[in-house]
Amino acid sequence: MSLKSAWHRTHNCGELTAKNEGEKVILNGWVHNWRNHGGIIFIDLRDRYGISQVVFSPETDMKLAEEASQLRHEYVIAVAGTVRRRPQNMANPRMVTGEIEIAADELEILNTSATPVLHINDPEASESEELRFRYRYLDLRRPALQNNILFRHRVAAEARKYMWSKGFTEIETPILMKSTPEGARDFLVPSRLNKGKFYALPQSPQTYKQILMISGFDRYFQVARCFRDEDLRADRQPEFTQLDAELSFIDENDIYAIFENLIVTLFRNCLGREIPQPFPSMTYEDAFRTYGCDKPDLRFGLPIKDVTQIFTESQFKVFRSVIESKGFVAAIAASGFADLTRKNIDDLTAHVAKFGAKGLVWLRLTDSGAEGPSKKFLSDSEISLLIKQIGAVAGDMIFLVAAPEKVCFTSLGQLRLELARLKNLTSKDDFSFLWVNNFPLFEYSEEEQRYTSVHHPFTAPLDSDIPLLDTPEYYKARSRAYDLVLNGFELGGGSIRIHRMDVQQKVFDLLGISKEDAENKFGFLLKALTFGAPPHGGIAFGLDRVVMVMMGLDSIRDTIPFPKTTAGISLMDNAPDRVSENQLKELGVKLEE
Ligand code: AMO
Repeated sequence: MSLKSAWHRTHNCGELTAKNEGEKVILNGWVHNWRNHGGIIFIDLRDRYGISQVVFSPETDMKLAEEASQLRHEYVIAVAGTVRRRPQNMANPRMVTGEIEIAADELEILNTSATPVLHINDPEASESEELRFRYRYLDLRRPALQNNILFRHRVAAEARKYMWSKGFTEIETPILMKSTPEGARDFLVPSRLNKGKFYALPQSPQTYKQILMISGFDRYFQVARCFRDEDLRADRQPEFTQLDAELSFIDENDIYAIFENLIVTLFRNCLGREIPQPFPSMTYEDAFRTYGCDKPDLRFGLPIKDVTQIFTESQFKVFRSVIESKGFVAAIAASGFADLTRKNIDDLTAHVAKFGAKGLVWLRLTDSGAEGPSKKFLSDSEISLLIKQIGAVAGDMIFLVAAPEKVCFTSLGQLRLELARLKNLTSKDDFSFLWVNNFPLFEYSEEEQRYTSVHHPFTAPLDSDIPLLDTPEYYKARSRAYDLVLNGFELGGGSIRIHRMDVQQKVFDLLGISKEDAENKFGFLLKALTFGAPPHGGIAFGLDRVVMVMMGLDSIRDTIPFPKTTAGISLMDNAPDRVSENQLKELGVKLEE
């Protein structure tokens, strides 16, 4: 039978080895590369399973070799031929198929291709993201990007298997819903049947999963698409995917155990890595005071030390005036950083300035003691106390920031990250997990001029802090929220929820959410809470982020088949786009020009 009538493949492009020597095979795929060596045509044939080398030799079949010489990048072809060993010096041990080639005796061109605008066959190609997104179908042909998407599939599949095995029921929740209070802006969808009214796309399935607990489903999970109209960054997209779960009759320790095990299973089954358990945990306050953020990267040390006490009587006006206005002086002993240049230090000073620090004081520790222009402002006893308290030794650089609490610790936290970058202290192959818990329940929003929820308004306060809610210091109450952090990224977060109406009402009152507002926004949940809500809690992981960190990628856009640009645009299909006058009219929507 000729290929024309039967071009179906017998094998894929990634599976033939020397074991198949002598077999007659048919392969289908794309022309990844072609070379013409004095009339002999070499084709690298690619499909998602791999690449096989196909050879058309004029000595065997002149006409066929001539036909093959017309093949160009990304043509889709079928070839029939015989598997043979490559000559010894031509074998490629890095490829599964590297020992063999297919000596072709038939060719069928299934489709031609316009000249590809991306160099699909060049792993080093550095086309702009704009071009890559516009031609995403070509970009996605790249073996590296395909590998990301296939890896993501494996992670999702393993996660599902794990959740099923632990008795979680997979339940879908609506996409067209009422606005959820996750704190970002909603994407809105106008309703044609209910003119003037809008659905919101879910920022997360939060309210629904709590309702499912009230309905008695006990253990829910979903691979859920979430939508948030927020400013985008390398680890944020306007639509992203959560592995979302909720459980009844549990506490924090159940959550830690079940979901640590999930993560350990994913790392074992998808990466072949054993992650030690239990994961360490740290309170938000310790994380902030020691690492200057709520998602510390623990692959390296460089902790921040509060040294305010040393300088309360200091002659150095800058420090003293900060302390007098209830600010802090804190330091990092940067071990082995004494060789930083003036330029390095200027760059670091500019870096901390971005986070509000008005200056960066530094001391270089050498065998003959502390050096640096700031030395003259500090007394010998202050310097020796400082060195002792932060455990600095010769060869270290000491950095100090004096500022109000938030600026002081945040800027040193950022300095810490920058120092690690300067000396390459981290490896993408190291995985350092951390649970951060006891977050504050409230935070002050300058923008809204009121306290808002750090997590969301359904997060339970710590039992021990419930009495605080009735005092003027209610804003100091801590919550039963937790985040799982990996290498400085927040992989997931959740909380034990409020399941009693009286506590929920109190939290709303403190958030300044009026009864009408609460009724209007989540009356359905409040009502449901009055019908025997079980104690419950949950967590959601950002699947895109999990895949990004597992694979050591720099952007979640490389884990998402069809991502949006930082301006929220899908360049391939040009969404968002204008719609017709008629569509707007039907929806009762008028545009302001
Ligand atoms: P949270 O808002 O912390 O919690 O989100 C959970 C996880 O989702 C991921 N994530 C994102 N990933 C990509 N792009 C974004 N824009 C984005 N925003 C969040 C992060 C984050 O840790 N309903 C609660 C969970 C709960 O309380 O159970 C929630 O959505 O990895």
